[in-house]
Amino acid sequence: MTDQPIDFSGRRALVTGGASGIGETTAGLLAELGAEVAIADLDSDRLGPALRRTGAKAHTAGDVADAGQAESMVADAAEALGGLDLVVNSAGIGDDLVPVHEQDPDRWQRVVDVNLRGTYLICRAAGRIMLEQRRGAIVNISSIVGLDAFPGRSAYGVAKAGVIHLTKTLACEWGPSGVRVNGIAPAYTTTPMVEDLLERKIFDPTLIERRTPVGRLATPLEMARATAFLLSDWASYVTGVVMPVDGGWSAYGAAGDVVKIRTGEG
Ligand SMILES: NC(=O)c1ccc[n+]([C@@H]2O[C@H](COP(=O)([O-])OP(=O)(O)OC[C@H]3O[C@@H](n4cnc5c(N)ncnc54)[C@H](O)[C@@H]3O)[C@@H](O)[C@H]2O)c1
Repeated sequence: MTDQPIDFSGRRALVTGGASGIGETTAGLLAELGAEVAIADLDSDRLGPALRRTGAKAHTAGDVADAGQAESMVADAAEALGGLDLVVNSAGIGDDLVPVHEQDPDRWQRVVDVNLRGTYLICRAAGRIMLEQRRGAIVNISSIVGLDAFPGRSAYGVAKAGVIHLTKTLACEWGPSGVRVNGIAPAYTTTPMVEDLLERKIFDPTLIERRTPVGRLATPLEMARATAFLLSDWASYVTGVVMPVDGGWSAYGAAGDVVKIRTGEG
């Protein structure tokens, strides 16, 4: 039996957070694989340059955490592309890296709102279009921080855990109507979000490399490829799954140093 390579010709895709990082790279890959792509982002200044870099056809600006703006961005994308078949929810922000008892509640709420409520609102608006046409696929970007607890990251972790649960719930609600909803849980990926943390020496990349079985951080393209697979017909029987794309991070449970064992030095 032969199968065709992934081909998104004739599919219309919206990528939120499409002006940077994983979202931008995913938008570019989907366009390269034949999709008509619209990118949405809060940062309106970066949308034009990102559109040119990715080969997207349209862009729309707004805050995914705002119900009206989320609806408008989905409507803008569907209007510009003539419909909507695929959605990637990549818009997100990091948190303050402080313990719960020191965290500002308004800041906590904003991190939850952008990462979780934003994903919910975009899914909700896009889902109505997809349910009507009885076809569609969504990928939500969660995180390894949504799988296990990371001290100092309560807002982000709660939001990303919520994204996992939301993904499963939507898959169950919409499966009978032909709409698949999946997610990925990336580990540390070399995007502006992480490069900023590295520059500010918030964390040490060598510790992450040692804690990761494959021994390095991820590239945005590795996240885009996993996302493209889940959006594609190759994943036609996959729904309600949030796939770790983490170089083995979530599989690793030992107390000791993974590097010594891998290189045979220990
Ligand atoms: N980089 C990593 O290591 C990593 C790891 C796990 C999960 N993630 C997740 O992947 C997604 C993409 O992250 P990234 O590393 O590419 O970050 P990034 O900062 O490079 O890109 C995020 C984009 O989202 C946009 N955005 C932020 N708030 C928004 C809002 N309210 N409405 C609309 N757009 C908004 C930003 O303007 C930016 O363009 C995020 O959801 C992030 O939490 C990233």
